[in-house]
Amino acid sequence: MASDYFSRPARILITGANGQVGRELVGQAGADVFFDVIGLARRQLDITDTAKVRQQLEQHQPDYVINCAAFNRADAAQKQREHCMRLNAEAVQQLAIACAELDIPLIHLSTDYVFDGHYASGYRENDAVRPLGVYGESKWQGEELLRRAHARHIILRVSWVFSGSGHNFLIRTLEQARTEAELVSVDDRRGCPTAAADVARVVLAIVKQLKCGADAWGTYHYCGAEITTRYAFSEAIIATASQYEALKVERLMPVASINFPTEAERPASSVLKCTKLLSTFGIRQRPWRGELVALVRQLYERF
Ligand SMILES: NC(=O)c1ccc[n+]([C@@H]2O[C@H](COP(=O)([O-])OP(=O)(O)OC[C@H]3O[C@@H](n4cnc5c(N)ncnc54)[C@H](OP(=O)(O)O)[C@@H]3O)[C@@H](O)[C@H]2O)c1
Repeated sequence: MASDYFSRPARILITGANGQVGRELVGQAGADVFFDVIGLARRQLDITDTAKVRQQLEQHQPDYVINCAAFNRADAAQKQREHCMRLNAEAVQQLAIACAELDIPLIHLSTDYVFDGHYASGYRENDAVRPLGVYGESKWQGEELLRRAHARHIILRVSWVFSGSGHNFLIRTLEQARTEAELVSVDDRRGCPTAAADVARVVLAIVKQLKCGADAWGTYHYCGAEITTRYAFSEAIIATASQYEALKVERLMPVASINFPTEAERPASSVLKCTKLLSTFGIRQRPWRGELVALVRQLYERF
């Protein structure tokens, strides 16, 4: 560790920097003197290119790598198994090997989809996994390969990520509410929405503590506070956006997931318990409703 390690900003290298969480990380860390940020979008660093990964790590010499690159579309993953595994599992393993060889801690994001969703009271980090689809399986394999390759890691499992850009439930619901009079939303799937900005806040808070010497490697859960359903989340999105715009939608109808088939089966209840993160790092859950209101306000200010 270089002698000026504690006095200079923490240099973080973010992969997948153009995604929901990646963008928030680049923005928040870029505004914080504690960090020196290198954000690499896919066109700058394809993490399946092992040689390029190694070359970029050697060139930038980061103190921490935060991997936000992923194949995230659960339904598409069912038909693109090979690609999904290559990105979410093999590339993560190669990244972990490179980080281990260069002694760089790796912070990696994973998902509630590693669980089968039959445990309604919420999942702890050590609970048994049983992914229901290719996406969840690929993320679980990525976790396991990473654990074996590199001891100095943090795996942060998050759920139902939403933001003002990219493919996510908030954006899809807003688009539909603007163009359709009747919407349906699944009311028997429980979980906790999590703002990408909130995920970034948590990741950066962890990195700060690691840099200050916390020796707390391992797997953690984080999600927004308040368990909800997709239906109630849709309701909240529509109610919030209605304060800014006369939406076309007149009726939101609850539907059972059995009547709303998708390529990939999804966990019925994928609530993540976040007490380990609280007791280890002192990081509390923020209510997703507050994050939603702030985000929708920002979106309409931009229009
Ligand atoms: N979204 C959710 O609801 C959710 C829920 C639980 C966990 N997570 C996890 O949270 C993490 C971040 O998710 P997110 O929502 O920010 O995802 P996202 O918005 O889909 O961002 C993923 C990024 O990875 C990039 N990417 C794809 N292939 C790549 C490659 N070969 N090399 C480098 N970058 C590549 C994508 O680039 P392009 O923009 O060019 O496609 C995209 O910018 C992921 O690990 C995900 O599994 C997400």
